[in-house]
Amino acid sequence: MLRIGMLTSGGDCQALNAAMRGVVKGICSKRSDVEIYGFKDGYKGLIYANFDMLTSKDFSGILTRGGTILGTSRQPFKLMRVPDKDGLDKVEAMKHTYHKLNLDCLVILGGNGTHKTANMLREEGLNILTLPKTIDNDLWGTEMTFGFQSAVDIATDTIDRIHTTATSHSRVFIIEVMGHKVGHVTLHAGIAGGADIILLPEIPYDIDIITDMIQKRSAAGKAFTILAVAEGAISKEDAGLKKKEYKEKLAKRKYPSIAYELAEQIQQKTDKEVRITVPGHTQRGGSPCAYDRVFSTRVGAAAAELILKGDYGYMIAMRKGETVKVPLQDVAGKLKTVDPGCSLIRQAKMIGISFGDEVLE
Ligand code: F6P
Repeated sequence: MLRIGMLTSGGDCQALNAAMRGVVKGICSKRSDVEIYGFKDGYKGLIYANFDMLTSKDFSGILTRGGTILGTSRQPFKLMRVPDKDGLDKVEAMKHTYHKLNLDCLVILGGNGTHKTANMLREEGLNILTLPKTIDNDLWGTEMTFGFQSAVDIATDTIDRIHTTATSHSRVFIIEVMGHKVGHVTLHAGIAGGADIILLPEIPYDIDIITDMIQKRSAAGKAFTILAVAEGAISKEDAGLKKKEYKEKLAKRKYPSIAYELAEQIQQKTDKEVRITVPGHTQRGGSPCAYDRVFSTRVGAAAAELILKGDYGYMIAMRKGETVKVPLQDVAGKLKTVDPGCSLIRQAKMIGISFGDEVLE
């Protein structure tokens, strides 16, 4: 008998179901003696032994379904070693559930925080395989994560729609795209949607460079300006603060998010009308795009291959168009950020997109 536990953890995204379907179909095509334990709401289900026994039928017809059939939750890694309100040792509880059910392995679908805990469970002796999930595409060790392309498509569609209304009004439009720590989604959607200015957490901006560009566009007869702004976009001034000082400043910020702060500054400095659009969680919702369906099916099937061989301790990654296994200890705790010197940024600047950091020639 092959006993597999499965859980989805952290923020959801498109193609979680498609990835689990890939794992289960891959295994069940080769073996019939399989038990699947679906833990509910992420690590919580493993801690409190809250699970459903599932069959291959439960994974049929879910390729295109958004969300996760298992549910998910955020369980911060830094609190994993802190007992719960009843004094329960969470790590010991997870190990207990795993051993009690006599699992052969645990398949974990998640992003950065999830991988820290997955690696800790590996160090504690459990057989772990992970799949790279997150719209942010910020997992180290893989060129791609599922959810990313779907989110880019949605954010791009939002910018496209703003474009048509922008042409009718002499306004500045700010679209705030998801990504607190990294700007991959904003960068790609911004370029795909033809944004004039793209602001990322990795490239601190100068507000005067932004407002000068808006004024220059106006003077050149371009009535509107579109900004694609990541949730975590930061000014040069704020980037110079110590982490603690910046956190304190954010806590006192009178605006709900960066887009509102920028809107007020732009309005004051340019006297232009500014409008804000925040697509928010729509970026994580709905069906996965075709790319994510294929990608998640591939990593799911690749995980099935490893399970059938009993080869554990890896994240399935995508490198140069191929699925590869990357040791979990290499992935955990590392972030893949946008490299400000990368060719994509250079090329965007070449065609006149401003990142708010320097005056373009
Ligand atoms: O990590 C994925 C992500 O969607 C980020 O882009 C975003 O900043 C964050 O999650 C939002 O988290 P929550 O759904 O917990 O509000």
